[in-house]
Amino acid sequence: MDVFGVDIGGSGIKGAPVDLGRGEIARERFKVLTPRPSTPDAVAGCVRQVVEHFGALGGPVGVTFPGVVTDGTTRTAANVDKSWIGRDAAALLGEELGGPVTVLNDADAAGLAEMTFGAGRGRMGTVVVLTFGTGIGSALFVDGRLVPNTELGHLELQGHEAETRASTRAKDEEDLSWGRWAKRVGRYLAHVEMLFSPELFVIGGGVSRKAAKFLPLIEGVSAEVVPAQLENNAGIVGAAMAAAASAPASAA
Ligand code: BGC
Repeated sequence: MDVFGVDIGGSGIKGAPVDLGRGEIARERFKVLTPRPSTPDAVAGCVRQVVEHFGALGGPVGVTFPGVVTDGTTRTAANVDKSWIGRDAAALLGEELGGPVTVLNDADAAGLAEMTFGAGRGRMGTVVVLTFGTGIGSALFVDGRLVPNTELGHLELQGHEAETRASTRAKDEEDLSWGRWAKRVGRYLAHVEMLFSPELFVIGGGVSRKAAKFLPLIEGVSAEVVPAQLENNAGIVGAAMAAAASAPASAA
């Protein structure tokens, strides 16, 4: 069955029905710009627009959020409006969409999709999936099981929060060459490696499409470093996977 996935990002809110057997979006995704300010009510209205576009209101929907999410409540908001902190996002969105909604961290969603259908498929041991975009998201897996809400983008590196130095936003804002950016990413990966000794890093986010430009330039990391395979759809696919996993058995 198809379950709907929505990815709330700092710049866009995109969604599509997902074919969970294949781990692929079943129809071309639809995207609206993230409202400014990105308050819960404004974002919920945009999520509704995306789901309505496919006539999927009332069905199970998985939604990613760019911050910590525990039991459907959003706990941090580094790159969206601070009024998300402490909101019951699952209830808010459930009301807006008229059906069951599962909310999870965006990088955790992308990681779930990569571990099941993409670059981490079948990998045991410790795997770290990192998404590079407006911020840096992380998903930590131990023998295929997710340790949720790890927030490794906020590690301090050389006196700065890592994501302010090594996200793709930092690359764009500072107009860094691939080489200079790769140097920062390498330093960051080496730091995460020192803390967790993963066997594998999966590098996701939109920039994974350009892996050939920067992965060969990354130095000082012993673990294997590979690009994500689901590119920008990983969040949508992972959101739908999470919704299916929390739906009652009769609906799955
Ligand atoms: C947030 C994370 C999120 C990442 C990517 C960070 O600023 O704290 O929760 O996964 O950005 O959106």
